[in-house]
Amino acid sequence: MNYKDFFSADTGSFMRSPVREIFKRVDLSKIYSFAGGYPSAETFPTEVFERLAGEVLHKYGAKALQYGATQGVPELRQAVSERYGVPVENIQITTSSQQGIDVCTRVLVDPGDVVLVSCPSYLGALQSFASYRAEVVGLDLSPEAGASRISRIEALLAEGKKIKFFYAIPDFQNPSGETLTLEQRSSLVDLARKYNFLIVEDSPYRELRYEGSSVATIYSLAPERTLHLGSFSKIMAPGFRLGWIIGAPELLDMIYVCKQSLDLCPPILDQYIAAEFMAGGELDRNLSKSVALYRDKRDYMLSLLEKYMPAGVSWTHPEGGLFLFVTLPEGYDTVALYDRALNAGVAYVAGSFFFPDGSHRNTMRLNFSFLATERMEAGVKLLASLL
Ligand SMILES: Cc1ncc(COP(=O)(O)O)c(C=O)c1O
Repeated sequence: MNYKDFFSADTGSFMRSPVREIFKRVDLSKIYSFAGGYPSAETFPTEVFERLAGEVLHKYGAKALQYGATQGVPELRQAVSERYGVPVENIQITTSSQQGIDVCTRVLVDPGDVVLVSCPSYLGALQSFASYRAEVVGLDLSPEAGASRISRIEALLAEGKKIKFFYAIPDFQNPSGETLTLEQRSSLVDLARKYNFLIVEDSPYRELRYEGSSVATIYSLAPERTLHLGSFSKIMAPGFRLGWIIGAPELLDMIYVCKQSLDLCPPILDQYIAAEFMAGGELDRNLSKSVALYRDKRDYMLSLLEKYMPAGVSWTHPEGGLFLFVTLPEGYDTVALYDRALNAGVAYVAGSFFFPDGSHRNTMRLNFSFLATERMEAGVKLLASLL
């Protein structure tokens, strides 16, 4: 049977994730994987979750297993409100921040509308933008590119395009590991105000900072035009599939209606567990352990790259998060190298997958959180030998 005739026009622009394709092909525990964005399993406090699940079922009974409010259970919205200092009515709980990205795009973007991104950018977001047939346009946020930013935006507007939002990952960006300075955030806000577009600020790594001091969120600089996305995946465990959106109640109201047709409500049992995890101080206790572990892993990874990478290879030095981005000399092709690397037993993600135009084939993203520390040296050594 030919099913193609049944698929919607949107499916024509769906993008398959090359990262997920890798996971289908290999058993991650058998290779040296720097590929996925997986947190370290060492950061999952299984026995705490076991206890909290019991306590939640005891405390809430059937309520924890029933449908709940689309905005999220009041206890979790309250806990997020207290932690991040925003009123409860500005908070929507999501079924992970991937859903946050998707739902924001779904309520804001018509086919052909422009979504601005900094390049490289998070693959899952690029997939979501493509699925709604947005035109994704890269905008350089470096201080020296001020004039080119303005002319790019003005050219798009002159063509009659509608710019709906800038998608930013300001803290320890996936994939580059880089953080936007306060000046960069402020000039992005100035642009958004001048040319009247919104900002979707996706910040799942914000609390994984290993050095330096935190920079104000874009939301705090422009609450009227920013949707801030948070996630429990990296500060608790991704298996809970929980995140949140902070934004103006008028924007959240449309997201609320949209979410009714997506999943009715975020997972209730998980939300109660997350609320208890926060209220009891477990989140902060666990987070400080995770930060210490990841700081050590990042430092070790940087020292291994220094030790083994051939001359001409450079990489970013992230102050937090889970990734660093490697640039090889011009002419190297990490897409072409990929199968050889996988056959040899080491995985990375080719950097070009994070560029909407598929450029920068001489780059790769390396994750340093997942692979056990004692296996990292052999993995980097193997990768370096292939280069
Ligand atoms: C920048 C960014 N946004 C969103 C997500 C999705 O996270 P979640 O598990 O909350 O859906 C990821 C996952 O790696 C990410 O790197």
